[in-house]
Amino acid sequence: MRHSVRYFGLIPAAGVGSRMGADSGPKQYLALGGKPMLEHSIDAMLTDARIERVFVVVALADTRWRSIRADAGRVEFLPVGGASRAESVRNGLDAIAGRGEDDDRVLVHDAARPCLGAAQLAALIDEAGGEDGGGLLAVPLSDTLKRGEDGRVAATLDRSSLWCAQTPQLFRIGSLRAALASGPLAGITDEASAMERAGHAPRLVAGVSSNLKVTTPEDVVLAGAVLREQGRV
Ligand code: CTP
Ligand code: MG
Repeated sequence: MRHSVRYFGLIPAAGVGSRMGADSGPKQYLALGGKPMLEHSIDAMLTDARIERVFVVVALADTRWRSIRADAGRVEFLPVGGASRAESVRNGLDAIAGRGEDDDRVLVHDAARPCLGAAQLAALIDEAGGEDGGGLLAVPLSDTLKRGEDGRVAATLDRSSLWCAQTPQLFRIGSLRAALASGPLAGITDEASAMERAGHAPRLVAGVSSNLKVTTPEDVVLAGAVLREQGRV
């Protein structure tokens, strides 16, 4: 008999945070309300009881993850970070091969998205958990889009079918591993794009813009405000 599907979290947290600016160190360790960003991101993934275990990919030379407070029964750190986000994800999936079946699901979530809400996580599992091609949280683009040339507007683009991709992104473990192996990792900036290249059409699950990716110092302020509003700090 077919086993019931299991869900695992995978958090790539092996980046250096170069756009955050010098001296701040890897951004996933920046404090938000007194707690490292990575801890918020892990906690967000643990709010859904369907997620059995969360794996966190950290850089080989990283030692700061040892001070992250996380339930050792549900959270495991993997020091197998790669040179790019896609490489870190691929290495993480390789490291957990054998921990689940190909048909089990993995939810890949940026360490840099600490404000993920429980409702959006649950909606992703509800709406994309049964999809062959998986799915991702995304929000319809709300700003008017311009194409620039030499600092001037060359055209206004139609945004009606455009979405901003977020994480988590949920896929069958076997399908995602095959998709990442199906071609070069260069240019793969999220898991969905690897799945698309392999011929899948991942489901777009409507998220919220407060699930922002912390990239610059301005985003740190925004993320802190969102976490306060959510009552999480
Ligand atoms: N990431 C990773 N391994 C890498 C690069 C990125 O695991 N070699 C992770 C980051 O830690 C982050 C997520 O992928 O959680 C999204 O990447 P990004 O926001 O680009 O983070 P950084 O690469 O650290 O930042 P920057 O691009 O500004 O250097
Ligand atoms: Mg990066």
